Amino acid sequence: MTAMVKAEGVHKSFGAAHILKGIDLEVAPREVFCLIGPSGSGKSTFLRCINHLEQINAGRLYVDGELVGYRQKGDKLYELKDSEVALKRRDIGMVFQRFNLFPHMTAIENVMEAPVQVKGEAKAVARARAERLLDRVGLADKAKNYPSQLSGGQQQRVAIARALAMEPKLMLFDEPTSALDPELVGDVLDVMRGLAEDGMTMIVVTHEMGFAREVGDALVFMDDGVVVESGHPRDVLTDPQHDRTKSFLSKVL
Ligand SMILES: Nc1ncnc2c1ncn2[C@@H]1O[C@H](COP(=O)(O)OP(=O)(O)OP(=O)(O)O)[C@@H](O)[C@H]1O
Ligand SMILES: [Mg+2]
Repeated sequence: MTAMVKAEGVHKSFGAAHILKGIDLEVAPREVFCLIGPSGSGKSTFLRCINHLEQINAGRLYVDGELVGYRQKGDKLYELKDSEVALKRRDIGMVFQRFNLFPHMTAIENVMEAPVQVKGEAKAVARARAERLLDRVGLADKAKNYPSQLSGGQQQRVAIARALAMEPKLMLFDEPTSALDPELVGDVLDVMRGLAEDGMTMIVVTHEMGFAREVGDALVFMDDGVVVESGHPRDVLTDPQHDRTKSFLSKVL
């Protein structure tokens, strides 16, 4: 079975700052893969490498069996054109800490935007899907609200619906609940749990250890640009093997 994401010795530097120092990991299709680690350890950078918002400096990174950003011919790598990168990025949905909805568009317009503008889909088709997706994230009655008329948790659920509208094969979540008031976190996690149950492949950077334990299939603890420890979330969270993992968990659990 082809891994949905495979990283082999991935390195990334910004100038002299060596941020990712040889990341090896594999995410299977339908897996919920949780990524935890201290601030600055490189979690967001790694997610950004997966959809080629950042270029890696060494190693290999594959999504669904294909090299990210390059085409391989024999031993040689050829960089993809921007248009080719953009095409591949369509298959990957990304949800950030800040929701970045278009403020001048209603919820449903936000969800319809990419399929219509990027894929050239008919508006009626995009609208029907957007209605289904808003219903799925529990916001059928908010379709005509503008982002400013929605709570943070509702905006984040619209952002998830917007990402799903492109029918991605992989969803990347970068601390999707950490900007939310505590009482709004549950609804967003419920939507993510539903996605997991439907078999979506997800990489989730999170501080929600309860979510990782209940929903996650795999968990990686990253520190200072390396994978320190990985395994089943229950094992890593209850019986960490490395001192760095223990010390991190003692602060967040
Ligand atoms: N574009 C950039 N240019 C220079 N340095 C960067 C850039 N992006 C990230 N960094 C640096 O890379 C390191 C890792 O950042 P990253 O955002 O990946 O960490 P993180 O694990 O996501 O942290 P947090 O939990 O705070 O979100 C940090 O030291 C950051 O300053
Ligand atoms: Mg981050």
